[in-house]
Amino acid sequence: MKLSLPEDVQLLSTTRSFLERGTQKLLIAGEWVEALDGLTFPTYNPATGEPLAEVALAGEADVDRAVQAARSAFEAGSWSRLSGEERGSLLWKLSDLLEDHADELAELETLDNGKPLRVTRHGDLPQAVKHLRYYAGLAGKIEGKTIPVSFSNQFVYTLREPMGVVGLIIPWNFPLLMAIWKLAPALAAGNTTILKPAEETPLSALRLGELIQQVGFPEGVVNILTGPGLPTGAAIVSHMGVDKVAFTGSTEVGRQIMKNAALSNLKRVSLELGGKSPNVIFADADLPKAIKGANWAVFSTAGQECVAGSRLFIERPVYDQVLEGLAAEAQRIRVGNGFTPKIHIGPLVSENQLHRVLGYIENGKKSGAQIIAGGERLGDDLAAGYFLSPTIFTHQDDNLPLVQEEIFGPVVAVSAFEDWQELVGRANQTSYGLAAGVWTLDIRKAHRFAQAVRAGTVWINGYGLFDPAAPFGGYKESGFGREMGQEALELYTQTKTVWVGL
Ligand code: NAI
Ligand code: MG
Repeated sequence: MKLSLPEDVQLLSTTRSFLERGTQKLLIAGEWVEALDGLTFPTYNPATGEPLAEVALAGEADVDRAVQAARSAFEAGSWSRLSGEERGSLLWKLSDLLEDHADELAELETLDNGKPLRVTRHGDLPQAVKHLRYYAGLAGKIEGKTIPVSFSNQFVYTLREPMGVVGLIIPWNFPLLMAIWKLAPALAAGNTTILKPAEETPLSALRLGELIQQVGFPEGVVNILTGPGLPTGAAIVSHMGVDKVAFTGSTEVGRQIMKNAALSNLKRVSLELGGKSPNVIFADADLPKAIKGANWAVFSTAGQECVAGSRLFIERPVYDQVLEGLAAEAQRIRVGNGFTPKIHIGPLVSENQLHRVLGYIENGKKSGAQIIAGGERLGDDLAAGYFLSPTIFTHQDDNLPLVQEEIFGPVVAVSAFEDWQELVGRANQTSYGLAAGVWTLDIRKAHRFAQAVRAGTVWINGYGLFDPAAPFGGYKESGFGREMGQEALELYTQTKTVWVGL
């Protein structure tokens, strides 16, 4: 295996030995196994285009094996019937192991996804640890209710029971963190799981699988299947033995998942899908903060975030000033290999994604939007990777694909607004409803905007903050169901009502 790293960078020996062990396998029923038909696929380093590892490609028969393993584990009760406190204590142990292995996991994540090591090490990893601990604490606090009914001789109560076998299908932008966003509540509630990482970024989930084994979760409680949407993801969604699928990814695939869930066993689904989030700067905002915030809202993770503040609305009186500040900020962003110290953003995750985003930029230029910063693939020592400069478009037409479609790259569509009515109408003129941001020092205006915008999360004088306690998810075509908070936990349980004749 050839690995080009920036000068002076040494990988940890544990990272090296993980990468050098040959084909990565599937975790089924507590064993690492090859795919039954022996197929594999490569995963690449998007900073260099070099292959990092060959990974087993799970087919339908492997999905079937994993579902059976998860089903037997569920029925054996060695997980679902443990006390919540006992489940919580294993989740807590896993969080400690993640902390111990944070350097190594961060390196794998940066190699596979491209994002800066500083971000994976000090952002994704600590967040994942916090999530595990939040749900470790909640595992023993899943309560039903007693229900007063109209019959005086009946006592009625509810139990919140696990769904059973749940499929967790995740994307490539926060590979480890999103695995934990879903695993932690699913496991806390007593479900058994099949995790499918994205085909672009399977490595951190596989290393996580080893740590899960080390903690001593019963066999079959967590199964990990690598492979693409077709056949692997689709086979999980259509399997009659899966009780629920939790998915994060594109709206298009979310639609497929709902349809296939309906056509199989009406399994439950929760969908965290795309976004085209409005971010609004009023003239009375703390402008330096708003400019920095708006910049980071769309360019962090090279724009590959579902919540990216990719439609920026600026109130007319400060439009020129904000735009100028924004362009200056964008030019200060250092793009580079995630292992280079002090860079801010890495490459796009794949060649596919790079060309998709470049396509939007070309189309934007042709459609009459003006480019005021970026828009170029980066060359020189970055030419082999999928690097793009932060790109700012201004426009006067909300119907452009640039303004309506999720680009998932470092591209922001900026326009001016004149008044409140216009702003609210335009901010909501989207099929998505994941998130929104608003910058103003007028507290009334801020809350009024938060009420008027149709989105699942609103940030006032900030952007992109997450916490395991704060529910997160979409309105409209950004999906339904919530990640995080007690709401996520509820989505991995179902209510049983018990009538007791007195
Ligand atoms: P995708 O939605 O195709 O992939 C996400 C996950 O779904 C991956 O694990 C994939 O293997 C799986 N998958 C794909 N097809 C499936 C199917 N038919 N049944 C079950 N699972 C399936 O996203 P992709 O192709 O990686 O990116 C394309 C666009 O999707 C991006 O440009 C972006 O706009 C959007 N996207 C949005 C995300 C978000 O968090 N909102 C995350 C990833 C992508
Ligand atoms: Mg895809």
